[in-house]
Amino acid sequence: MSLEKAAFGVRENAYAPYSRFKVGAAIRSADGTIYAGCNVENIAYPEGTCAEAGAIAAMVAAGETRLTEVFVVADSMVPVSPCGGCRQKLAEFGTGDAKVTLANLDGVRETTTLAALLPGAFGRDHMAEDHGDRD
Ligand code: THU
Repeated sequence: MSLEKAAFGVRENAYAPYSRFKVGAAIRSADGTIYAGCNVENIAYPEGTCAEAGAIAAMVAAGETRLTEVFVVADSMVPVSPCGGCRQKLAEFGTGDAKVTLANLDGVRETTTLAALLPGAFGRDHMAEDHGDRD
């Protein structure tokens, strides 16, 4: 199955009774396996989770921690833009050059990278061993 098919397919299962905005995400891990996730909302609104978070959770649960490619689809006028939190979550598991495709249901596609989505990302380097105590 392609990344695109996985994202479109899992989107159908999104649980979005409050926003009515279904999102599907698929990620390819370093070993080539595809993991998919959809948004899962909750009546306690802040408890809802994004599609990207679901796909990441599926990958990590399967024992993989590196992703190489991402595909996100929603029924939006312009291709869906991952939220800030999801950009940081994706950056945890992929390098800046990882390809990210954003799509809507009308066949519009935008291709970008993790680095372009999250410039100036907070990363491991900011927590290097020698950061020292400055007190
Ligand atoms: N949402 C995602 O799942 N991924 C995104 O990239 C953007 C937003 C979800 C969260 C919420 O369930 C709904 O879309 C409306 O914000």
